[in-house]
Amino acid sequence: MTAGRYTPEALSVEIDPHLFVVFGGTGDLARSKLLPALYRLLRSRDFSDTVQVLGVASRDIADDEYRRLVRDALSEAGHDVDDDWLGRAVHYQSLRHGFEALAARIGQIEDAAGLGGNRAFYLAVPPDVFEDTVEGLGKVGVVDGAGWTRVVVEKPFGVDRATGSRLNQLLHRWFAEEQIYRIDHYLAKETVRNLLALRFANPIFESSWTRDRIDSVQITVAEDGGIGTRARYYDSAGAVRDIIQNHALQIFSLVAMEPPVQATAEHIRDEKVKLLKATAAVRRSDLVRGQYTAGRIGGEDVVGYRDETGVAPDSLTETYAALVLHVDNWRWKGVPFYLRAGKRLATRVTQVSVVFKEPPVSLFSVVDECEMHPNVFEIRLQPSEGFALSFEMKVPGEGYVLQTQRLRFDYDEVFGELPDAYETLLADVMTGDQTLFVRADEVEEAWRIVEPALDTDEAPEAYPAGSWGPPGADDLLARRGDRWLTPVI
Ligand code: BG6
Repeated sequence: MTAGRYTPEALSVEIDPHLFVVFGGTGDLARSKLLPALYRLLRSRDFSDTVQVLGVASRDIADDEYRRLVRDALSEAGHDVDDDWLGRAVHYQSLRHGFEALAARIGQIEDAAGLGGNRAFYLAVPPDVFEDTVEGLGKVGVVDGAGWTRVVVEKPFGVDRATGSRLNQLLHRWFAEEQIYRIDHYLAKETVRNLLALRFANPIFESSWTRDRIDSVQITVAEDGGIGTRARYYDSAGAVRDIIQNHALQIFSLVAMEPPVQATAEHIRDEKVKLLKATAAVRRSDLVRGQYTAGRIGGEDVVGYRDETGVAPDSLTETYAALVLHVDNWRWKGVPFYLRAGKRLATRVTQVSVVFKEPPVSLFSVVDECEMHPNVFEIRLQPSEGFALSFEMKVPGEGYVLQTQRLRFDYDEVFGELPDAYETLLADVMTGDQTLFVRADEVEEAWRIVEPALDTDEAPEAYPAGSWGPPGADDLLARRGDRWLTPVI
């Protein structure tokens, strides 16, 4: 195979003419991720004017000022901005004038561009205005256009099972589940999607993917970054809500689910939910929470969590969590799934390590007392995406001295640059493919699993920034004779 550059055209499908409405259109998420991804996607389609963009927020600014804001965001993301397109396709409406005025504006833009009534509403808004936004849209009737209507929702999907379920009820008051696109941007990372291909197009893996062959599975979502300017959100969330309930459990469900009947959104999501239902809620004894203290990362001194701006000096919020999940089904009974996620860890890496069982008889250690290691299949999601399989081989020479070697596949060597997660997700919203979006029942099951790990008033264990987490996390695995594998990037 030859290395190439990913071209969105190669994967493109037709996009219907529609209006793409961004609530929170002046906010951080819109500027840093959404608008640049939207721009890349539309540019790859020669800026077909059949997609019009309407930014909505509380600021009372005119179209031109919004276009300048969008222009700045795109330039910051490294784009040469096409001003003609900005003028033709980007609009703004302030919510200060209410939802009726918004509805009128939507109608105007649709008529002028001949869009036919297809609408996507992207709710990039903070949780405290979420309900008013959904109700506002519902009450003025813009959710019943002449064409399709889709609503895109960002996490957090509630803060526990009860609030997650209330949010679902609120959405279902105005939208059918087929219209709701709950984003978990991890699902759009190429390697996460490739998990399905890897497992179900390669019987060599799938036939070993059982409790007969697999000893344990580790899922690591490590970040070297801290909380940035998000103290207000993060201090009330913590690692379990921020990463484990969504990104880590999504990876877990794709790794462990049964083969779907077909590779369609509903069949795949049915299997994910079935797996989550077979997974017991985490036991408190299977949970370790940590909080970073001052340390050094990449040659720089960083402050401890409690000294971050906006964090209470006696905060008990966990910036690290490690836990063990047990799946009660035929495939996985007895195989522990170890999940860990944390901020200010040694490096940024997201990886699944599938640890296979050791040979039933230790032939070689009897001969030479050599050390054996289990086969490990690593699925790396970031920073570089790819797979590696480690295996034992004999070092040339006398006796049986074994050495671990790795067979490795790196995505970028073969395919060059990979699509951005947000671009993939936006394209799916526009084409109506829900495979990479989280269904209502998945959200609620995920909350059920992590609920015992929420809102504890126990103090988290300290770990220095730049380490791999608190000592308790090592003890958690040591109980069963296991240890965390340091990801090899
Ligand atoms: C977000 C979390 O969902 O994912 C952040 O809220 C986290 O705290 C981020 O930093 C990680 O995403 P990525 O794609 O950089 O791994």
